Formats: sequence, structure tokens, C-alpha cells
Amino acid sequence: MNRQICLATNNKGKLREYREILAPMGFVIYSPKDLNIDLDVEENGKDYRENSYLKALAFSKLVPFPVLADDSGLEILALNNFPGLHSSRFADSCGGYPQAYEEIFSRLKGKDRSARFRCCICFLENTTAKPLYFEGLCPGYILEKPSGDHGFGYDPIFHSEEADIDFGLADEETKNKYSHRFKAIQKLKLYFAIG
Ligand code: IMP
Repeated sequence: MNRQICLATNNKGKLREYREILAPMGFVIYSPKDLNIDLDVEENGKDYRENSYLKALAFSKLVPFPVLADDSGLEILALNNFPGLHSSRFADSCGGYPQAYEEIFSRLKGKDRSARFRCCICFLENTTAKPLYFEGLCPGYILEKPSGDHGFGYDPIFHSEEADIDFGLADEETKNKYSHRFKAIQKLKLYFAIG
């Protein structure tokens, strides 16, 4: 298997995590920037799978390697899995993550704080190949106030039950042992029997 892969994301946090997890297995992960690609794919799919495929396909048309794309989000159970698919857009609409945290705290007053991160990876060998999907979940809950500044996105307001740590306080190695992304990547590794 070709160990050169393009990761279809401009999200530096995701890129760092994929590299950290896949580099020890000999994968070379190229970002769009490494390949001089400036592309922002419209994520108008109806679910995580569709969005991850849309991203993978758009990049696959431009690069000579297999492409990995992930679509992920924070799901808060008492808010019907909000912000979910719209996690990134919700933060933008609030004016940034600190404001999004406050909005979530206010919507969660008096409610159960159970939440989880979800990740769906799409692996696309080339534009005409059948897409392969791998999913991972990371269960936990929303904190009462932000804690730490590690990670990215919603990490500072999320406590991982399995790691028993606030993700905002976790170093990359710890987060990457329990994250939704790590679990999805484990399934990808298993599929290719390379782990
Ligand atoms: P997308 O998959 O690029 O549409 O964006 C996913 C969004 O979900 C991110 O921009 C974050 O807001 C949120 N998210 C996904 N995974 C994580 C994570 O591991 N930590 C914190 N936030 C995350």
C-alpha cells in the first residue's frame, strides 16, 4: 500500500493528530498546503459520511495519492446532538470558540451534560474507488467552565470519561489514546492490517 496520503483538511489541529498517530507506522501525511492546494470544500452533506466523502473526492481530483478526509463534531445529548455536524460553523457563528463555549453553557443550564465527539473517516484510493468509512466515538461530558488550553476546538470544555481527563489539560499523547479520531484510525489500521 502507498504510504503517502493527502489529508483533506486545513484544520491544523486535525493534521497534527493524524501525523502523530500515523507517522510511527511509516505514513507520510501531506496537507493541502504542502501540495500547494488551496481548496475549501462546501460541507453540505446530510451526515458525517457524506461530508467526509465530499472532502475526500474534491481533494482526490487534485492529488496523485490516496486521500483521507474526516468529518467530526461534538454531540451534546441533551441538545439533540447539537452542534454535531455544524460544530465548526456554530463556533464561527458565535464569533469564536470562547463565545461558543459560553453559548453552550447557557443552553445547558439545568440539563444533563453528557456529550461525545464523533469522527467519521473516509479513505479514497482514487476518484473512482469505492469509499471506505471508519468511525470512532469519544464519550464524556461538558464541563461547567473551560479548563486548560490544549488541543483545539471544543477540547477546553470537554471531559473524556475513558481518559478521565479534561481534554484541555491533556497532552497530545494522552488525547490520542482515547480520541474519536484515534478510534476511527485504529479501525482503518485494522482494515489494512498494518497496525
Ligand atoms: P469539520 O470536521 O472540519 O467539519 O470540523 C469538525 C469540528 O468539530 C472542529 O472544527 C471542531 O469544532 C469540532 N471537533 C472535532 N473534533 C474535535 C476534537 O478532537 N476536539 C475539539 N473539537 C473537535
